[in-house]
Order: sequence, then C-alpha cells, then structure tokens
Amino acid sequence: CGIMGYIGCKEAAKIILDGLAKHEYRGYDSAGIAVIKGGEIQEIRTTGRVSVLAEKVAKANFTGELGIGHTRWATHGGVSERNAHPHISSDNRVVLVHNGIIENAREIRTDLEARGIAFHTETDTESAVQYLGYVYDGDPKGAIVKLTKRIRGAFALVIMFYDRPNEIWTARKGSPLVVGHAKGEGFCASDPTALLEYTRDVWFMDDDEIARITREGCEFYDFSGAPHEKKPMHLDWDAAMTNRGEYPHFMLKEIHEQPDVVAHTLLGRIAGEKVDLSHELAWTPEETEKWKKIHFVACGTSHYATAAAARIMETLGNFEIRTEVASEYRYRNIPIDEETLAIFVSQSGETADTLHAARLAKNRGARCLVITNVRGSTIHREVGEAIITPAGPEIGVAATKTFTAQITALTLLGMYLAKLRGELSPASERRLISALMDIPGKLATILSKEREIEALARDFADARGFFFIGRGLAYPPALEGALKLKEISYLHAEAYPAGEMKHGPIALLDKELPVVALVPKNGLWEKTVSNIEESMARRSPIIAIATESDEEIRHYTSHIIFTPETEPELYPFVAVIPLQLFAYYIARQRGCDIDMPRNLAKSVTVE
Ligand code: G6P
Repeated sequence: CGIMGYIGCKEAAKIILDGLAKHEYRGYDSAGIAVIKGGEIQEIRTTGRVSVLAEKVAKANFTGELGIGHTRWATHGGVSERNAHPHISSDNRVVLVHNGIIENAREIRTDLEARGIAFHTETDTESAVQYLGYVYDGDPKGAIVKLTKRIRGAFALVIMFYDRPNEIWTARKGSPLVVGHAKGEGFCASDPTALLEYTRDVWFMDDDEIARITREGCEFYDFSGAPHEKKPMHLDWDAAMTNRGEYPHFMLKEIHEQPDVVAHTLLGRIAGEKVDLSHELAWTPEETEKWKKIHFVACGTSHYATAAAARIMETLGNFEIRTEVASEYRYRNIPIDEETLAIFVSQSGETADTLHAARLAKNRGARCLVITNVRGSTIHREVGEAIITPAGPEIGVAATKTFTAQITALTLLGMYLAKLRGELSPASERRLISALMDIPGKLATILSKEREIEALARDFADARGFFFIGRGLAYPPALEGALKLKEISYLHAEAYPAGEMKHGPIALLDKELPVVALVPKNGLWEKTVSNIEESMARRSPIIAIATESDEEIRHYTSHIIFTPETEPELYPFVAVIPLQLFAYYIARQRGCDIDMPRNLAKSVTVE
C-alpha cells in the first residue's frame, strides 16, 4: 500500500493525488483521501485506480490544507469502497490511513464493540482508528502512545484529529514511512520518490517512532512519548528521474536505461583494471577467511539475481554458497553463525520477508551485508553494511534495470571477496574487469534489436504458455525471463534447468507450448542442443537465445535472437535483456497493463 500526507497552505487534495499516483505501483485495488476543514473530516474513497479517485475529487467540493491519502493492495478484507482507506472513527473525530497488518485487530474490535462502538468495515485498520477515537481526549500524542501499546503487528499510520488543523501525526513499526519538510509545508509518504518534487531532505522514520508534522517543521518521539532529535538525510535522486519521458511505459524506459545503469554501478568500484570496494566494505583478508558459508537471501527478481551471482562466484573461488528465498530462509533450520556471510538483496530495501530474514541472521551472529537500490531504506539502516546500486528510481512493477544493477554489484562483490581471500588471480581479475567494462556497449547492441524481438513476440503472443530452459549460467536468466513473462502478460511461463526437463515437465510439451532455449556457445552448448531436440521431437516451437557467431543453431530453429559474445561468467547480463523485451512485447500485444500488472505490488511490506 502507499501513503501520502500533506500540510501547508495549498490545496491538499491536489498534492496528495499527485503523490498517490507516484505510489500507485505499491497497490492499485482501491484508493482514498481525507481532508480537514473547519473541524470537519471530509473523505472520498473508491475501488480502482488513483485516476478514478481524482475524478471523484474533482466533482466534489473538496478543500482543505491538510490531508492524507492511500492507495491499497488488499490484505485483510476484500477490494471494496468500504474497505478502502482512509478510515474514520465512529465519532468522526479521528481519521487515518494504514500500511501493514494489525494482528490483534479482532481482539480489539470485540473489546470495543462490547463498549458500544459500531464497526463499519472488515479491515484490520478500523480497529486502530476506533481505538484512537475511544481514547482521544484532546491529547493526540497521548492517544497514539496508548494505541502503539494496544496494537500488535506492522504499521505505518498517518493520523489527523478533527480539532487539530495544524498537525498531522504518524507512527511506524515495521512498515516504511518517510517525512519531509519545505518552506511552510510538511509531507509524509511511503516512498521518498513522492517527495522529490518538494524536498530532497527527508527523515526516514524508524521503528517505534512517532512524528508530528506541522507547517513549521517535524518533531519526533518514541513510543513512550519522549522527544528526540533526528537528522534528515539528503536524497541523491531528483524528480526528473520519476518521469516516463517519451516512452509508453516505465518498464520500457527502464529496460533502455540498463547500459547506463551497468556503467554507473561499475563507476568508483574499479581502479586500474582492479576491483576495489574498500570504501564501502570494511573487510580484512583475515575476516573473509572466517566466512565459510555464504548465504544469499532475497525475493522475486532479486532472488534470481542472487542465483546468477552464486553461479558467477562459483567460477571465481572456492565458495560454499546457498541461495534462499527470504520467506523460507526464516522458517527453516538452516545453520547460521559467525562463520556465515549473509547477503540480502532487495531493490526496495523494504521487503518484509527479506527484512525479517536479515534480523534473524544478525541475531544468530552472521556477518550481514545488503545490496539495495534505496539508500536509507529500512534494510539498509538495519543491516548497516551495504552496496547501493545506483539504478535510480524503478517505477515499473516488473523489475528490470535493478536486476542488472544487482548482478553488476554482485559480480564485483564476488571478485572482491575472492581477491581478499587470495583466490582471484590478477589475470582473471583483469580479464573480467575488461569484460565488465564492455557490457554497457553489448547491452546497447541488444537493445538495437528491439524491433526484431517485437516481431518475434508478435508471432508468439497467442501461445498457451512458455518453457524457458538453460544450463549453468544460462539458468538464472531463464528464471528471470519466465518471471517477467508471468508478471506482465499473465501467461504461464516456467523455467527449468535444461537437463531437468526430461524428468517430468517434458510431458507438457506440444505444438502450442514454445520453448525459449538459452543456448550460449560454451561447454554446455551440445547438451542444451540435445534438450532442444527433445523438445522439437514433441513439436514445441523453439525460440533460441544464441551467441552471435553460432551459425549452427539455425539447423534447429529460425526463431533466434543473437546476443553478443562475452566472457562466459557474464552471460546472464546479455541473456536477460532480450527476455525482458520479449516479455514486454508479448504483454503489449496482449493489451496488458504493463507498468501495473494485476495482483502485484512493487514493494511488499507484509509477510
Ligand atoms: C515484489 C515485486 C517483485 C520483486 C520482489 C522483491 O514481489 O513485485 O518484482 O522482485 O517484490 O522486491 P525487492 O524490493 O526486495 O527486491
């Protein structure tokens, strides 16, 4: 879900609607907004998009200089206008929006209903607002302190009180919230990109923190109500980065940004053909010797970036690596201790599953490191040691450029670690650095084949589904290619290690189920070609992602996308771009909502 709050001298509704539009990738089931004017709370809610809400607001007489808004990704309670936020207490004195889950909502509701308070929705959030209405006696901070003691779970709350026209209150535990201030105006939002237009100096709220936002500034308190000082953080992004430019979709824009993103990620981390991360990681060779186990923990696309990283690293040194999905890592009995280096990868730095996994590893004594695209994000602040990927804001829900930035950072990290341990020869280091520097140019070459890939997608847009196969370093990009297709075209797409197809999935193949085969010209080429032949024998059309010089592949299929040659370790870089474009054009052909695919949210802050 996404939250936006404003207090100042302008019409709050306009600023909040703009802010909600920037948050829409976080959820778009329903939306709502509330303002306060003359001691009265006014509110409009709707199912559907922020644009529908904006139309409703335009028709209403909806004025006020402070307000809050919300865009929802349903967890508790179905998608309906009634369940959309903001929620108002039955006595009309308190209104709030909430991101997160209140776990003891049922218990609070039963208790309040027994005291005669009527509930109107099925949401967990209503328990918080009704409780506040019940305890509010003119002291907002006191009421919020009581609330934080009464509710359990995760929350980012933004609250207004009917008789407090000069302040907005927020409270956070477990869900992201950022506060900003500029020239007589105060803001809060789930995502800092919504504030870039107004200010670049922001305060990321910590867990167990309350804020009071006024036209004059922001004050911070802990959950007992005691005030504390808090320093703002300067954002390195600017507002222009959040515009789509001439592209029809953010996803396409972000796919095209990838050559630059790789170049920026390399910048400052390479010196004279050598990798150097010493300014980010205070690691000593002795320390790195101690880490016997390397755990990669992430979700979704970030998880597939770690799958690629693991395979790259295995070629660089003698590493014992596990790659785990965060929601599983937490609940399995995996040995985690002082000999573990746990690396958490998260574009947003806010994914609840990854955050909880990081807390677990930290508690068990592992050395933790985060790779994230958002400086100051919750995971960054909690883990501390970090490599920030400079991909800039990613708005399309389906991750593209952040995947490429992550594998760039992870390749450098693998090299650096192998080097500190004395396992990377200077010759390999030079060879890989020079190959990495060539990657931006190679990605640009693939992007220049966009029309070719579009035509291919047009031919296959009516397929029943797709299989993606690859071996070794070709398997992680196959996973990511299948995920992209699922996410934005809603077609069933599954990735398999090419050699594993014959152990079951091959039963599904027929002439309506094309196989996308990642078949780079390397030591596994022949084996993968055997798997292509197995698929052809079941009449599956073959789309080959092959290496430029590979003329032989034409014997097997005429549907080929050629990728430039690169060092074998770096194959995931060149393989993923055509697959992103393929998914994009299939989805476009099928008329899907590419930047906001159904049921998905870019940043999932619930477990
Ligand atoms: C959500 C998004 C995915 C993303 C995953 C992990 O499920 O829809 O695109 O890969 O979260 O996000 P993170 O921000 O932790 O990389």
